[in-house]
Amino acid sequence: MTAQLIDGNALARQIRAEVAHRTEALKARGIQPQLTIVLVGDDPASQVYTRHKVNDSTETGLGATLERYPATLAEAQLLDRIRALNADPKVHGILVQLPLPGHMDASKVIETISPAKDVDGFHVASAGALVTGQPGFWPCTPYGCMKMLESIGYELRGRHAVVIGRSNIVGKPMALMLLQKNATVTICHSATADLGAMTRQADVVVAAVGKRNVLTAGMVKPGAVVLDVGMNRDEAGKLCGDVDFEGVRQVAGWITPVPGGVGPMTRAMLLVNTLEAAERAAG
Ligand code: GUN
Repeated sequence: MTAQLIDGNALARQIRAEVAHRTEALKARGIQPQLTIVLVGDDPASQVYTRHKVNDSTETGLGATLERYPATLAEAQLLDRIRALNADPKVHGILVQLPLPGHMDASKVIETISPAKDVDGFHVASAGALVTGQPGFWPCTPYGCMKMLESIGYELRGRHAVVIGRSNIVGKPMALMLLQKNATVTICHSATADLGAMTRQADVVVAAVGKRNVLTAGMVKPGAVVLDVGMNRDEAGKLCGDVDFEGVRQVAGWITPVPGGVGPMTRAMLLVNTLEAAERAAG
């Protein structure tokens, strides 16, 4: 058997079209959804990511501003700027690009963002809303994974989902979203004794570790859905995920490629959250 591909590019395109449509409706009411991205320092990867986020936004009709500050910016100044953005009714979403320079406390910075504008879904209030099933913003990567499962009409109720990785921005929220859809969820991590024994029981595996070949063909139940959140490079410098794609695709029922899988969905879900923030503010 060869797994069917879940095409993140195609699904993201569809989601962006929906966002564009809903954005038009807001604009007709005189509201311009607006995302402000704050970039501190000149980390090369962050510069690329933030440029993509701005371009994605403007191509979809959302307003997006990139504010750049030197790495020497004092934390207090950044917090003041965030408070000003919180108070600005024209700004619906605030994203502070990570990593921040070493002298800043990232948690403190994120907790300063108003939860109503936390389109990354990184604030403790957003995490708490997800835990308790209340409205809030979901982190974009696991949210995108849920949309991918939805796109193939996958019924999670009663299924066993195994999440590999326990980060605050992917693994933990992913597990909670799967739980909310009535899956039985196992979270595996670096101290898990026998990862393969866990994943072989899984109907859905989400690999979110940041290491190549964490999941190989012998670790996958035939027909399982495999979502690959990883973004790594192989020896030849080629982009690859956490999953041994060529091996696992022979066993799985569905699989996401890297590139062209979860990545474009993460980007698309930021647009959804920004639009949602504007719609909520508009009432
Ligand atoms: N750095 C890498 N990915 C992200 C992200 O999704 N959001 C923020 N704020 N910073 C990042």
